[in-house]
Amino acid sequence: MQKNILIIGACGQIGTELTYALRETYGSDRVIASDIREGNEALMNSGPFELLDATDYDAMEEVIAYHEIDEVYLMAAMLSATAEKFPMRAWNLNMNSLFNVLNLARQKKLSKVFWPSSIAVFGSNTPSVNTPQHTIMEPSTVYGISKQSGERWCEYYYNKFGVDVRSIRYPGLISWKTQPGGGTTDYAVEIYHKALADQKYTCFLKEKTKLPMMFMDDAIKATLQIMNAPKEQIKIRSSYNLAAMSFNPRELASCIQKHIPNFEVNFQPDFRQAIADTWPSSIDDLRAQEDWNWNADFDLEKTTAEMLKQLNNKL
Ligand code: SER
Repeated sequence: MQKNILIIGACGQIGTELTYALRETYGSDRVIASDIREGNEALMNSGPFELLDATDYDAMEEVIAYHEIDEVYLMAAMLSATAEKFPMRAWNLNMNSLFNVLNLARQKKLSKVFWPSSIAVFGSNTPSVNTPQHTIMEPSTVYGISKQSGERWCEYYYNKFGVDVRSIRYPGLISWKTQPGGGTTDYAVEIYHKALADQKYTCFLKEKTKLPMMFMDDAIKATLQIMNAPKEQIKIRSSYNLAAMSFNPRELASCIQKHIPNFEVNFQPDFRQAIADTWPSSIDDLRAQEDWNWNADFDLEKTTAEMLKQLNNKL
């Protein structure tokens, strides 16, 4: 049987690049992009697209049947900063979309599911340096609570119903093709845009707030790797810790200054500081390394060189 893939939330920061990567691998026609609204021109021109509300079970079931979908990547979610403003909308979107996909998989309408979790599942009682895979998890944000609950449900559906669901706790993601929206780690993308456009940036986090981060190419690599690994190798069915680098806004600014010496940054923390304060500063991802051979390619220097080069080309 030919295997078709559906990406839900294909127009977002991760969804866009995941769509391109999957189309590259499996062919455009076999990878269906979907979102609640249309994406940028390049994405829309790259292959089939469906308008789909991830909270609408019937619509999702119909798209899956019509396109003979076998695998779903559920990338639709409301991120941490926006979720604090709209708690119930965030909870409904983040949880109902997951239940829709898990229930369709439970009914054998799908054979494999990818669902992203986040470093936001941890909280202020979690050891913040080299945060272990299994540790105290008391998230205090709406987004973090939804991701932690989601992890428990993924593991439950695997144990009870054999649903082959795979998940990664992404760090903050840095990318140049599509901007993030509504996250606490978004500063690490905005800063590059502002460095090139205005040579100055006002950061909404304090200069010493160190967070785990990753370049998008690594995030996509990890996603394809965990999805392509043999089933027996996926020993964690909640979600895997994943790491590449950790830095604070001051360190990122200094790295940019090596390329743009007159770049200036100042700090005006807003409500997102309180969110960042509860998240780890670095992550232990040994289990991902051991179980499915994870290793990152991009450190801060390499990420910065690539971001500035690609954004410059775009301008
Ligand atoms: N990058 C996300 C956020 O900041 C965390 O998963 O909300």
